[in-house]
Order: sequence, then structure tokens, then C-alpha cells
Amino acid sequence: MRKLLLSVILMTGLSAENLEEVFKIGQSGAKELLKTLGGEMKKQMASGDIKKAINFCSQEAQTLTNKVDEALGENVSIKRISTKYRSPANKPTKTEAKILFMLESTNSPLLTKVSDNEYKFYQPLRIGKPVCLNCHGKGEDMSEVARKTIHELYPQDKATNYNFGDLRGAVVVTIKRGETE
Ligand code: HEC
Repeated sequence: MRKLLLSVILMTGLSAENLEEVFKIGQSGAKELLKTLGGEMKKQMASGDIKKAINFCSQEAQTLTNKVDEALGENVSIKRISTKYRSPANKPTKTEAKILFMLESTNSPLLTKVSDNEYKFYQPLRIGKPVCLNCHGKGEDMSEVARKTIHELYPQDKATNYNFGDLRGAVVVTIKRGETE
């Protein structure tokens, strides 16, 4: 964390204090979203009905993300991205795709400066729990029902064939700083 902060400071010329604040906003936003989505997914999977769980993710994950986004206020926005996206809403921009490539080899979050008053915080997301493989795995990791349900909802799905530990994507928190600072 220290090392990371230092290199970003050199790049931006921003004071350490300000940067740490921006970093913390990103970190807590990402944490909030992951807690929300993770909690709901756990509940769904506990029901044992994979079809229902997939339908839930399909219908509610984006709505829940939008709710967290709203709660973070107008200067902070949040989304998920993946180069192998399932939902087209999570397709990364070219710059974001480059960042995802960099995140392949690290579990540390990354802060980038977009402009004088805009920053982007990236939280890498891995296939860190075996449960993820039910809907993002390969071969026998996924049941026939899961495959079929996902294919019906997402004929262009790219988000399968992952191994445990693979980078799945990232949470991106965009932080805008007002003129008053
Ligand atoms: C019950 C099936 C299911 C499980 C289990 C599941 N996902 Fe997903 N996942 C989905 C569906 C459906 C989408 C697309 C809908 C959405 O999230 O907007 C998705 C989307 C995502 C996305 C957004 C990028 C994209 O491809 O659109 C990420 C990141 C993600 N999942 C990570 C995970 C991780 C990490 C786990 C394990 C902790 C996990 N998922 C477990 C079904 C599942």
C-alpha cells in the first residue's frame, strides 16, 4: 500500500493526504458493493435452486449495483467490468481493459488519475470461492441446468471456463473531486 501510494503520488503531484482519502473512498465503495452482491448470492445459492439463483443474478445484480451507486453520492460512481463479460453492461472501455490486464498479476487495488479532478479506483476480483465455479466454471464444474439457463439468458456469454483463482474482473469506482478543494 505504501509503495503503491508513493508511485501514484509521483505521477499526480497530489498530496499524500488527499490521495489516501480518494483511495479510501474507492476502497469502501468497492467493499460495500461486494458485500451487497456477495450476501445476496449466498442467500440464493443456499436455496439449492441454481436456475433461480441465475435468474436472480441476471435480474438483480445490476439493480443492486445501481442502488449502491446512488447511495455513494453524485461524485462517486461504481460498476463492474470484465474482459470476459457475461452482461454487456460490464464491458470495459479500452483503458479499463488495459488496467484489467495489469491486474492479472496482482491482488492489490490500483488508483489511476483520469484528470485533475477525476480518479479511478480498481479492485481486482478473483474466482476466489468455489461457489463461483457453479456459474463461471468449466466442464463438470457447471451443471447442465446452469449451462442451459445461462445460455438462454446470455447467448453471447464469455464468462465461463474459469479456474479457481483466476482474475474474473474488477470493481471500478470513479471519484470526482469538487472545485472547492
Ligand atoms: C448463480 C450463478 C452465479 C454465481 C454462483 C456467480 N455468478 Fe457471477 N454472474 C452471474 C450472472 C448471471 C452474471 C451476469 C449478471 C450481472 O451480474 O449483471 C454474473 C456476473 C458477474 C460479474 C460481472 C461481469 C460480467 O461478466 O458481466 C462478475 C465480476 C462476477 N459475476 C463474479 C463472480 C464471482 C467472483 C463469483 C463467486 C464469488 C460469482 N460471480 C458467482 C452468475 C453467477
